[in-house]
Amino acid sequence: MRILAIESSCDETAAAVTEERRVISSVVVSQIAEHAVYGGVVPEIASRMHAESIIPVVKKALSDAGMGASDIDAVAVTYAPGLIGALLVGVNFAKGMSLALGKPLIPVHHIRSHIASNYISSPELEPPFLCLVASGGHSHIVLVSDYTSFEVIGRTVDDAAGECFDKSARILGLPYPGGVHLDKLADSGNADAYDLPFPHAGGKYDMSFSGLKTAVINLVHNEQQKRGELSETMRADIAAALRKRVCDMLVGSTLRAASDIGARQVAVAGGVSANSELRRRLSEECAAAGMRFYLPELSLCGDNAAMVGVQAYYEYKSGHTAGSDLNAYATMQIEKDYEGSRG
Ligand code: KG4
Ligand code: ZN
Repeated sequence: MRILAIESSCDETAAAVTEERRVISSVVVSQIAEHAVYGGVVPEIASRMHAESIIPVVKKALSDAGMGASDIDAVAVTYAPGLIGALLVGVNFAKGMSLALGKPLIPVHHIRSHIASNYISSPELEPPFLCLVASGGHSHIVLVSDYTSFEVIGRTVDDAAGECFDKSARILGLPYPGGVHLDKLADSGNADAYDLPFPHAGGKYDMSFSGLKTAVINLVHNEQQKRGELSETMRADIAAALRKRVCDMLVGSTLRAASDIGARQVAVAGGVSANSELRRRLSEECAAAGMRFYLPELSLCGDNAAMVGVQAYYEYKSGHTAGSDLNAYATMQIEKDYEGSRG
């Protein structure tokens, strides 16, 4: 089954052609440069840029696959969660394509698709497994009991891990989005130079990142008041100390949950899964605990449509298709299957 998949939930316009778990083509056009001057994603600009890019991006995905629209068996699209105006561009485009081609329309939850990026990188991976999903908007520990059956057993009680990285990076003078730059800067720092707090969240596997972000902001302001501008060494040390604490939280909660439920397989997904220390520590700690660890290749960690197409294949097999009344939703629990009309 050849699926044309579309993703426009935030600041990447993406289209892909997939067949089951195989990626035939994948095109991602990033809007990062446009948003960087504002220090964050501007929703109004994101929607307009998706509207401009969506036709060329879909055309390129089809031509890279050596296919025409009539070679496609179904159209899939991210319908939730995300920026509502951004999602609506993809959803309406996908509805139009599905109607014009007379092919099924498959709505895909954004976090479900991030998890599915692992099916591309690890063809042998099958549920059940425990997946840490950490992105700019989410930090969830998800029990994936089947391809379309999910349960969130731990979550952040405040900011997402990516948000904590991005806000801290900003105060350290790094460009937006700062996660990747902070990761690089941290490589040359001493993580023990500063003792950042370890915030405690209520639930057993819950996490908290906003106290860490505030601690970094206060630390930077204090150092600036004492010494003027921060030295390069100090910035690197703060980046390393923060990266360590964020990983302590993500890895600690994930491994605790995995061992309590007796998980034999653990995976990671979402933009923050590109973090070098997170990848290394999860891989080491899962190996030490006798659990198999899966991670997406770097090009699949951020938003893309290949992961949407692969998850869509499983949604279709479970009968989760949509009619022409498909809408977009800014928030949506990962547990909920699409419940609109099927007509
Ligand atoms: O999944 P994603 O592309 O978009 C959302 O669905 O939110 O995640 C983006 C997030 C941003 O916060 C970005 O800074 C973070 O992923 N990120 C990283 C790294 N690369 C991207 N955070 C830490 N280390 C990285 N190497
Ligand atoms: Zn994402």
